[in-house]
Parts: sequence; C-alpha cells; structure tokens
Amino acid sequence: MLALTACDRTPPDYRPLVTLPLYTAGDADNGALIYEDACSQCHQLNPGSNKKGPQLMNIYGAPAAELADYKYSEGLSNSGWIWDAETLDPYIADAEKAMADSKMLADPMPDASERADVIAYLSTLRDEIPALDEDGFPIKGGDANKSADITPDKGSASTSNEQSKMTNEPVDVSSDPAQKPAADFR
Ligand code: HEC
Repeated sequence: MLALTACDRTPPDYRPLVTLPLYTAGDADNGALIYEDACSQCHQLNPGSNKKGPQLMNIYGAPAAELADYKYSEGLSNSGWIWDAETLDPYIADAEKAMADSKMLADPMPDASERADVIAYLSTLRDEIPALDEDGFPIKGGDANKSADITPDKGSASTSNEQSKMTNEPVDVSSDPAQKPAADFR
C-alpha cells in the first residue's frame, strides 16, 4: 500500500498520563528551579517540541526512549529502563556514567538532595493527551463550544429583577486550565 504523503510534518508524540504517585522525598518547588538552570536549555515540556533532548512531559514512570518524534541513542533505546527514582537518580547524577553511549551531555549533578528535588519536580509533570486529528496533530480549540448549548430566553416576562440572581450560576469556563494551547508556547 502507498503511504499517505499529504502531510510531511512529524506529528508530536505523547507519553501516556503518569500513574505513579508523586515523588515526595524531594522538594518539587526547588526542583523546578534546578531544572530551569540545569535541564531546560536542552529539554522542553511541550509534546512536539524536542530541543537537543526530548521533551519531558509525563516522563515519570515512563519507559525510556519512548517518543517516536525524537531520535534517541541506541543505548537508551535498548536500555529497557523505566524512569522512576531508581533510574533517574544515577542518570541525572552523571548520564554518561549511567549509560556509556548516552547522547545526554549534561553536567553531572553530584548533590543527592538536588537530584531528589529534580525527581520530585519531574514527578509533577502530568498532562493528558489532547484530542488529535487523523494525522496525529492536536485539534485546536476542539472542545471549545461543547457546552454552549444555551437556549435563548423566549418569554420576555423577566421581571427586571437584578437582585434575584440565581445562586447556582454556572462558572465561567473560559479560564479552564485544561483549555490550554496545544503546542508551541515557546
Ligand atoms: C546538554 C543538553 C542536556 C541537558 C543539560 C540535559 N539533558 Fe536530558 N537529555 C539530553 C539528550 C540529548 C537526551 C537523549 C539521550 C539519549 O538518547 O541517549 C536526554 C534524555 C533525557 C531523559 C530521557 C528521556 C526519555 O524520553 O527517555 C531524561 C529523563 C532526561 N534527559 C532528564 C534530564 C534532566 C532531569 C536534566 C537536568 C538535570 C537534563 N536531562 C539535562 C540532553 C540534555
């Protein structure tokens, strides 16, 4: 069969949502700061946006080298590792020591408590896979109008009562944090 060539962009790949509990032996807030400093120049958190290294959303508990849209080293691809505290700790400590053929040329992180903080932060990175179109790209604003099923008020007999507002009004969904842009925020 002929492969479809309508779209030559590689669709973003997504890791499934994390099922492990949060890692609490470190301080995730401090880990976020360390991550910013030591990891973010090579790693992104948006599916589809791989930098020098693969994006890291939903990495905690995920099999190593899982993303189809990133080219991993053979070593990591064949490692069979699952990214939990036990594998992340030596990898973050010194990737080239943990994996001879590693593509990750990051500075070693000798401080165990810093590593625990980073692992705690990584364990907070959780995001659902959005609705995808048939090519595997996220559908932009896909569900935005789903609940806009408001029938117009027909009887105009509303007795001008500003004060008798319903206490049960639906909340504004426009600020729903789930409705975030699908990709490319950096
Ligand atoms: C100089 C760039 C660079 C820096 C800095 C860096 N990484 Fe990486 N990282 C990579 C590359 C490249 C890979 C792919 C490794 C391979 O294929 O062997 C990778 C892979 C990973 C993976 C495996 C991802 C997967 O899908 O299996 C994790 C986890 C990871 N890095 C975490 C971190 C953390 C945490 C830090 C900060 C402490 C960090 N990295 C700093 C470049 C970097």
